[in-house]
Amino acid sequence: MKILSVVGTRPQFIKLAVLSREIRKRFDEVIVHTGQHYDYDMSRIFFKNMEIPEPDYNLGVGSAERDKQIKKMAEGMEKIFMDEKPDLVVVFGDTNSTLAGAMAASKFGIQLAHVEAGMRSFDKTMPEEVNRIKTDKISDILFCPTGIAVKNLKKEGIIKNVFKVGDVMIDSIKLNIGIAEKNSRILGQLKLKKKSYLLATAHRAGNTDTKANLSNIMDALISINEKIVFPVHPRTAKYLKLYNLDKKVKNSNIIETKPLSYADMLILEKNAKKILTDSGGMQKEAYFFKVPCITLRDSTEWTETVNDGWNILAGANKPKILDAIKNFNPKGKQSEHYGDGNASRNIASIINKALISS
Ligand code: UD1
Repeated sequence: MKILSVVGTRPQFIKLAVLSREIRKRFDEVIVHTGQHYDYDMSRIFFKNMEIPEPDYNLGVGSAERDKQIKKMAEGMEKIFMDEKPDLVVVFGDTNSTLAGAMAASKFGIQLAHVEAGMRSFDKTMPEEVNRIKTDKISDILFCPTGIAVKNLKKEGIIKNVFKVGDVMIDSIKLNIGIAEKNSRILGQLKLKKKSYLLATAHRAGNTDTKANLSNIMDALISINEKIVFPVHPRTAKYLKLYNLDKKVKNSNIIETKPLSYADMLILEKNAKKILTDSGGMQKEAYFFKVPCITLRDSTEWTETVNDGWNILAGANKPKILDAIKNFNPKGKQSEHYGDGNASRNIASIINKALISS
């Protein structure tokens, strides 16, 4: 039996790292990298550090306008799918690479499994929300991280082959945090003491591609008397320059870094006083480490983190961000644990049963 896994962006490499280990215990695996992320620090470093098997194919699509990028990726995959004839295609999360892989599989009638199915932010202005809905609609097996995700699918009439398996990102944190504690030197390199700094990231199109939003976020961060570590995504670097915000940021309390390795990010997250982010993965990681999270978006698909009081939605609103930095100090119990660290094992075992019976 042959499984073909499609990845293309940084968070997908992290998810693949844990799932691939389980898949390879039972099946042959072919990995297709779409090339959506291509910088060394956004791609190669993850394959190297997390010992992910080399991709069998790299489509090298690079950056492009959304529709063109998806079309190019899907077309590139069609030829590979014809040659490889996989029994099942696995796609992860909600990026353009996810949807392209799903479309190509569906075109050839190949069984499609979606990891992180059923997540909804209910904000269709975000490309990720559209990617999620479309991918779930054409998936044959839907792996949900949470009960809310299962309910979201039910509301859309999707009930067949829906499994609550936990979250593969929690598998990944549990597997890697010990190794990161041993190997990461990031706190020393940045001269930081534990719990003495904030950690911030922003890269979503809604925040970077609108001058007012990125300016509001950076203004808020610059105006407070705190050390803020700010790993800069290439998209953000491009827009900081374009909006002439780069010099202002350089001469401020903000400690800019290039995109960091997974191990360094885990250590920075665990030891931060608070996390400010528009990333979905970091909201969950903050919750896992019990670090208060201020989300730089008006909606989230990780609603449990907000309902439990550990995450607050501040959007790109300067007063809200400043207020949360000062006053948001959650202490409550956490009701959702996103699984017990066995999501990848659960997924591989369900795939096994599905392929045997098909
Ligand atoms: C994508 C995902 C987003 C995810 C993120 C993880 C979509 C719609 N969005 O956004 O959900 O959270 O990945 O990081 O798929 N760039 C580089 N080098 C790279 C990659 C990107 O310079 O290696 C720059 C390019 O200028 C490019 C821009 O970043 O135009 C945006 O890249 P894009 O492919 O749109 O993805 P992300 O913004 O990273």
